[in-house]
Amino acid sequence: SLQTLLSTLTFLLSLQTLLSEKVGQLMDWTGRRAVIRMNGEKFRRFVKAPPRNYSVVIMFTALQPQRQCGVCKQADDEYQILANSWRYSTAFTNKVFFATVDFDEGSDVFQMLNMNSAPSFIHFPAKGKPKKSDSYELQVRGFAAEQLARWVGDRTDVQIRVIRPPNYAGPLMLGFLLAVIGGLAYLRRNNLEFLYNKNVWAFSALCFCLIMTSGQMWNHIRGPPYAHKNPTTGQVSYIHGSSQAQFVAETHIVLLFNSAVTMGMVLLHEAATSDMDIGKRKIMCVAGIGLVMLFFSWLLSIFRAKYHGYPYSFLLS
Ligand SMILES: *[C@@H]1O[C@H](CO)[C@@H](O)[C@H](O)[C@H]1NC(C)=O
Repeated sequence: SLQTLLSTLTFLLSLQTLLSEKVGQLMDWTGRRAVIRMNGEKFRRFVKAPPRNYSVVIMFTALQPQRQCGVCKQADDEYQILANSWRYSTAFTNKVFFATVDFDEGSDVFQMLNMNSAPSFIHFPAKGKPKKSDSYELQVRGFAAEQLARWVGDRTDVQIRVIRPPNYAGPLMLGFLLAVIGGLAYLRRNNLEFLYNKNVWAFSALCFCLIMTSGQMWNHIRGPPYAHKNPTTGQVSYIHGSSQAQFVAETHIVLLFNSAVTMGMVLLHEAATSDMDIGKRKIMCVAGIGLVMLFFSWLLSIFRAKYHGYPYSFLLS
């Protein structure tokens, strides 16, 4: 009858208005940030509930420092590159949106989807529910932006050309180092003797060894937080309680302790071989022994704190 026809029409019209409202809102958010942050409420309204004529790619993640998800940070960097490449591409349309749900803002979404690992990527197609291939196989493909772009291309027929922002940090550091060395060589151009000085070389080699053995490379790759502050007690810990992980502060402490032990060894060696008077050599000897014993036992106690069940200690427990 006319009545039902009319109500159906009104219903369809309201759906249409709702859809254009949603698309308008998503475009607005994307204009501000290439990756939209969603909590449970936004997820239900813009991703779960119809009507929808757009795809949403969502990264489920846990970026809060206390979650200690180093991989999440790296995956996030790649995801931002992907979303920005799309956002600023000339082909940009309202067909695909990129969003993220952080565990600490939308744990209900994690629960609803039975999600128990982060980061993970899911494509929510414009029609119907996500299928198996709408879940990105992170273990197999890795999280490089190019791989993600290929997957998005398969799922949505939107092809994204990944554009990486140039990284100047490496070349800058190298340039700085060369400038310092060049400057030194220039300042002392009349006396390049220092290039043949074995102490200079020994010191540089030592610095390199100390940096490499204190875990800087691990920090560089895994990107751990500097330290951890317990949110309930407010206590800050600088040493991670397990041998599976570490904080940046920890590597600085280990670097310091290793240097102190090395310093003690050098003092001992000097005390034994130098031709200073015997009084000075005695002082050097005692200082050297003190440094080595104190910092070595400190190192051991840190190791014991991390590697539970390690049986040996020295001076300190
Ligand atoms: C989806 O629908 C809205 C509202 O009608 C429209 O503005 C938008 O262009 C549509 N998107 C696509 C990809 O067709």
